[in-house]
This record gives sequence, structure tokens and C-alpha cells, in this order.
Amino acid sequence: MVETGRLPADGVRRMFDRIAPVYDAMNRTMTAGLDRRWRRLTVAAAVRPGDRVVDVCCGTGDLAIAALPVAADVVGLDFSEAMLERARRKAPGIEWVQGDALALPFDDASFDAATVGFGVRNVEDLERALAELRRVLRPGGRVGILEITRPRGLLAPFYRLWFDVLIPLAGKLLPGGSAYTYLPASVKRFPGPEELAAMLGRAGFEDVSFRLLGGGIVALHVGQARKDQSS
Ligand SMILES: C[S@@+](CC[C@H](N)C(=O)[O-])C[C@H]1O[C@@H](n2cnc3c(N)ncnc32)[C@H](O)[C@@H]1O
Repeated sequence: MVETGRLPADGVRRMFDRIAPVYDAMNRTMTAGLDRRWRRLTVAAAVRPGDRVVDVCCGTGDLAIAALPVAADVVGLDFSEAMLERARRKAPGIEWVQGDALALPFDDASFDAATVGFGVRNVEDLERALAELRRVLRPGGRVGILEITRPRGLLAPFYRLWFDVLIPLAGKLLPGGSAYTYLPASVKRFPGPEELAAMLGRAGFEDVSFRLLGGGIVALHVGQARKDQSS
């Protein structure tokens, strides 16, 4: 079941509970430390000084923490208690909320900005997750979505070797290693950047754009909650 990359929500949550102890180290290794730069770019694209920000699928908290120097207030939400526990230890000052990205426990229009780092790929119902992000943003509020994507062109063969062979192999040697078989499978079935941009448009975002980072292995989408649509 893991190989299909289609775990039900409960399975995804349990998988992140299991890999929480090694998640940060795997992240740094797999991205050669570039994830820090990508998080800073996400914050720069989506968060304005004084914003109230929600970081959905916050995991161990690094994207929420990156927003802290800019934002007035940051809330991190995740459904894995073990991931949240790590986040709480890193930044006790942030409000860390256990909850579901598909049913955010927040009022309509209660945030100026929303970020998601490597999270939307994991949700069972992407359209619903995007609709929830739109709902909790005030009209004109920004969303920033950072997600792994499959590169085309020159890098594609190297990426296949890295992602489809070496990462799953490394995963076999580590606790919770099946997650790293799940990872490439979940990227394969995730919509490409153009399609995700179109989905954001349909979910009520305007001025949607994306840029590719890391030689095209990661996409950063940004958009603004449409002003002419009631939330
Ligand atoms: C790959 S981690 C990303 C963590 C963090 N945002 C980062 O940038 O490193 C994905 C996170 O999404 C969370 N997640 C997946 N589906 C979720 C859902 N439906 N509701 C809340 N959290 C979810 C998982 O528990 C996990 O912590």
C-alpha cells in the first residue's frame, strides 16, 4: 500500500508520527540544506510585515518559524502530534494546533497569509484543502505553497536516480523508512505546477503564479484570495 503513495489520512498521520524523530535530518540531507532558502522565499512571497499567518501542515515547524521575524502572529497546524511536539520544543512562543487541513479549526477570513510547505501533496482531498486555505484568508490575503515537483529536461534523469532509487534505498536503512518509498510515489501522482496553479484559481485565488526552485525540483505557488468572492 505504501508503494502506491495513496495512504488514507490516518496512515499519513501515523507515518509522520513515526518519522518525526528523523524528519528534520532527512529534510536537510535530501535537499542539501536548500530547504531553508526555499522556506525564506516562501515567507518573502506570501507574508507581509504585521500579518497574522497560518502555516498549515506545519510538521516540525520550520516554515512557521521562518515567518516569525516578519509576521505579527503565527499559528502552526498539523494533525501529527509527534511532529507538533518537535515544533513546540523549537518555538514555544508559536501557537501550535493539532487539526486537519481539510477542516481547519479557524473562522472565515481570520488570517492575512497562509503557507504550506511540502504538505498539500499529502492531503486526501487537495481541492478541499485549497478551499479551506481560501476560507480562512481575508479577501486579498496571500497563500504560499511550497511543494516538490518532477523536473523536466536535463535534470530529469538525475532526479529519477536520486528520488526513485537513492532516497527509497536510504529510507530502508532508517526508522520509518517506508515513508521514503511513499515520498516519490506521492510526488508522481501530484498535479504538475500548471495544474496546481489552475486548481488555485478554481479555489478562489487570483494573481496565481509559480516559480521553480532547486533546478525545477520544487515549485513555489503564490496567489491572493479573490476579493469579489465571499469567504
Ligand atoms: C512533509 S511534512 C512537511 C512539514 C513542514 N511543513 C515542512 O515544511 O517541513 C507534511 C506534514 O503534513 C502533515 N499533514 C498531512 N496531511 C495533513 C492533514 N490532512 N491535516 C494536517 N496535517 C497534515 C503531516 O502530519 C506532516 O507533518
